[in-house]
Parts: sequence; C-alpha cells; structure tokens
Amino acid sequence: MLGKTMDAIDFLSAFDPELSDMMHREYFRQRDGLELIASENFASPAVMAAMGSVLTNKYAEGLPGKRYYGGCEFVDEVETLCIQRAKQLFGAEFANVQPHSGAQANMAVQLAFLQPGDTFLGMSLANGGHLSHGSPANISGKYFHAVSYDVDHNTGRIDYDQVRDLARKHQPKLLIAGASAYPRTIDFSIFADIAREVGAVFMVDMAHIAGLVAGGAHMSPVPYADIVTTTTHKTLRGPRGGLILGRAEFAKKVNSAVFPGTQGGPLEHVIAAKAVCLKEAMAPEFAVYARNVVNNAAVLADALMAEGFDLVTGGTDNHLMLADLRPMGITGKELQRRCDENRITLNKNSIPGDPEKFTVTSGVRIGTAAVTTRGLQEEDMKTIAHCIALTAKDFENTREEVLSTVRGLCSRYPLYG
Ligand SMILES: Cc1ncc(COP(=O)(O)O)c(C=O)c1O
Repeated sequence: MLGKTMDAIDFLSAFDPELSDMMHREYFRQRDGLELIASENFASPAVMAAMGSVLTNKYAEGLPGKRYYGGCEFVDEVETLCIQRAKQLFGAEFANVQPHSGAQANMAVQLAFLQPGDTFLGMSLANGGHLSHGSPANISGKYFHAVSYDVDHNTGRIDYDQVRDLARKHQPKLLIAGASAYPRTIDFSIFADIAREVGAVFMVDMAHIAGLVAGGAHMSPVPYADIVTTTTHKTLRGPRGGLILGRAEFAKKVNSAVFPGTQGGPLEHVIAAKAVCLKEAMAPEFAVYARNVVNNAAVLADALMAEGFDLVTGGTDNHLMLADLRPMGITGKELQRRCDENRITLNKNSIPGDPEKFTVTSGVRIGTAAVTTRGLQEEDMKTIAHCIALTAKDFENTREEVLSTVRGLCSRYPLYG
C-alpha cells in the first residue's frame, strides 16, 4: 500500500521536484506523528487512486442522463453507482453526490429551502456548530436570518427545551441539527418533533459522525430528517467532499440548488472516490472500525480525566472530546503549539461560554478516527493521554520522553501498512 501512496509523489519528482519535496515532507509528517484532529482521517489507497484518475478530465454539468456535454456515458455510470451506494448505505430515498465539500452541501440546502432574509435555526459556532450553520462570517449568516441555539453552559449538552422555545418564538423555515465539536449523541427524534411542531424543514448535518452512522455506532438521522448533509472525508474516511441525502419529494429542489444553484461541473474523479469509500463503508470491517473509534474515544476520555483534564460533558459518546483547559492554566492555542512540537496534532477549540477569543480558546478538541484507522488500540489511548498530560503540565522537561513514545507508537502502527 505504501508503494502506491509514494508512487504518485515520486512520479512528480522528475517533473516538479519542488512540489514533490513538499508532498514528501507532508507524508512524513503524517507518518511520524499522532493525528488527533477530530475531522481528519487517512483515506485508503483505493480512494486516492480514484481521485488521481482520468475522470478529472471530464466536464459533466447536470445529472446522469441529463448532461450539458457529450461524452458523459462512462461518468454517468460512475455517478449513478455512487448515488446507488449512498442511498443503499444510509437507507435514503435520494442522494446528490456532487457537493464539492460539506459547506457547499449546506449552502445548496439553504438555497433550496430559504429565500434571502428567511429565518433558520442552527447551533452556534461558539457552542460547537459549524460556520455554515449561520455564522455572521459565512454566507449562511449574511443572506439569511440565522438564529442560534447554544448548549447548556453547565452541562455542555444541547438543551432541547431551549431549541423548542427558540423554534416556537422564531418560527424558522429550516431547523439544523449537527455539529463540529459536540461529544455526545444527538437525539434526532427530538429535533424532528420540534421541526414538525413549527412546520420547519428538518436538516441534519452529520459531517462529523457519518462514518459512525454508516458503521452502526451512532443513531442514524436519515429516518428522522427531511434532508441530511455530510462530508465524506471525516469519520467516513473518503475523499474530501460532500453528499446530500433526503426524501424523494425534495430531490428536484436540492438537485437544482447544487447545479446550477451553487456549483458548476461536478468533480467526477472525486465522485468515483466517494463511490469507493461508500463501498468500503458497506464492508463488515467498517462496522468494526466505527465501534473501535468510539471505544478508543471512551478510553482516551477516561484516561485524560484520570490525568486531571476537565472534559466538557464529562466524557464522550462519539469520536471526539473537548477538554476545558482552564483548570490547567493553559490556553488551547498554547497546548496545540506544544503538541505540534511533540508530533501530536490536535486543534484549539472554544468551549461553551469560552472567555478567550476564538483565536486563543480555553480548550482543545481531540478525536480518535485517524489513529483508529492506523490501528491504535485502547491501551494506546492511555499512553496518548499521558503524553498530552506531560505536554500540558511539564512540556520542557518531558519532551524527549514524549517524542520517543510518539515515535514508538508510529513505528508500531505504520501509516499505509
Ligand atoms: C458539521 C460540519 N459541517 C460542515 C463542515 C464543512 O465541511 P467542508 O470543510 O468540507 O466544507 C464541517 C467541517 O469541519 C463540519 O464540521
């Protein structure tokens, strides 16, 4: 497997040594460090092979069988296969596999169901939502009237009563559930009930948990939501990209909001790679991976708490956790920097009610999908927790010890076999 990964980089070295050198160094960074960014993963060589293929050459505006260009007979087959697999894997009535990213998928759904100035309700960015759920810095917050719900600042959990009260008060046309930094199971049935009560379209953005849903390790939103958006590159472990699933009655509206509404030609090479990752996610081993991601996260959360970390909500149900670093007297920005130096990659993240600026933060977000893909086990999570604790508490004096432990783990679980 390593051969195939390196082949592409080596192939470039003759033509573009400058670029090839940068790609080599990025490969070594991934290989020689522990990847704990909750939104990242390691795509398989099969996924990467599909992305680096001749399909990148083809323009195919429109949908299979209804294109604006000639010569689409084979990419029609590719895209149709991808659509079938997406519907089958998630049990959805329709799928659009063209969104270039998660944010593009969300923008298309908003364009499909909202007019400029219309009200929608989503989770605030500061409390774990995503920019595209109504942040004033994003088109979703600039073109529409975005109202936000928070989590309860004492428990760190979604306050479903607050969501219901806000929905009754603001009568949103669209209700969005889903998050970028929420460590607990989201109860989609309660959200669906609230949406029904106020007559809103109910959208779930399952970008973070899609792989867990596919592997049966998180409740599926598909039976409850009118529309589900996702990325394909986080826990789902595919190429960078997006997907939209939903009820058949909304297919036409959503399809035309993707193209011509918000995008041009689809990336058929990425769609092929999405088809590969969906096939991988149907295999029994994927359910084992999804369960291991969640088990590893639970062990890592317990071990971090045993090391003295304060975790928002006191733990995790999914692939990620949020550490509140205030009792440790260190900011998220500083712990991220120190971890980088120790070859542990994670990201600073606001915690609910964070007094620090979002460029500094009082917390870090830690996820287990990528290290689980690499093969790390529950025992290794305790070692990682100890490394993070040493990095936070006694950085200068423990650098050699942490670096050597990270080196040991990376060589025991080689990236790409
Ligand atoms: C919940 C959620 N939705 C959407 C996105 C956006 O995905 P992309 O970066 O592919 O646009 C993210 C990315 O982090 C996310 O966490």
